[in-house]
Amino acid sequence: MSPAAIIAIAAVVLVALFAVALLTAARKSDVRGAGALSRETRRRDKDAEIDGPAPTGRQVERAATEAREASLVKPESTAPVTWVAPDAEQIGVNRRQFLNRATVTLMSAGLGTFAAGAFVAFLWPTAAPVFGGKVNVGKIDDIIASIRSNAGFFYSSSARSYLTQYPPEALPKAKGVPQYAPLLGGMSEGVVAMYQKCPHLGCRVPQCASSQWFECPCHGSQYNRVGEKKAGPAPRGMDHFAVTVSAAGDVVIDTSTVITGAPIGINTSGQEAEGPHCITGGGGSH
Ligand code: FES
Repeated sequence: MSPAAIIAIAAVVLVALFAVALLTAARKSDVRGAGALSRETRRRDKDAEIDGPAPTGRQVERAATEAREASLVKPESTAPVTWVAPDAEQIGVNRRQFLNRATVTLMSAGLGTFAAGAFVAFLWPTAAPVFGGKVNVGKIDDIIASIRSNAGFFYSSSARSYLTQYPPEALPKAKGVPQYAPLLGGMSEGVVAMYQKCPHLGCRVPQCASSQWFECPCHGSQYNRVGEKKAGPAPRGMDHFAVTVSAAGDVVIDTSTVITGAPIGINTSGQEAEGPHCITGGGGSH
């Protein structure tokens, strides 16, 4: 090959290389122009491409919709629910329970107080003795005065007894009556106590001011002023209580023991009816 041909081929090659260089430079210039990504962006895109492919627009939109729905508060189910009564023990005491319990508590407290009071009263010694014990009915002088002002009789409701004067001249006879032995102390003080209960069937035997006897309205039994039987169906004279007179002059009737009345026919006082009888049909000794 001639030197001229070699030079011509070399020139063509040089021209070709020059043209390629120009094209490459032009391309780089286009890439760095408007709309081109910065190096940092391209690096992030490159990193993103390493993690996975970039999501499509539809995928992004779906993800946004799902995130929005998840953030919404879903309403409770509106389906009807069967009502179940609440547990009273859990919800506490209702009004009815409160009233019932209050009533029971108050009744229990009242009964308890009453029982306690009754128990204390039972054990506590009574200030004023009542029937069944020793009953102080007053001063002897006052008793005698009352008997005389009340037509021969003195009645004590607390002792359920009558007090009358016992004639001192009858004491010798009284000492011969066994049933009168516990009564002699009172008789010697001038008084004798009769239990108000009729020895026949238990009626209260009232005094009769006109006859100065005791005359039972139930069946007509009659007793003289010291309780000795004079008439009627009673099986004996009126029952008695022992009487004591203290040094201070207090008359005490011991109602703890009923002293059986004297047998029929005993008449230590010799007192006969001093006027009309209050109860008809009695009359005469049986
Ligand atoms: S109860 Fe007194 S006479 Fe019968």
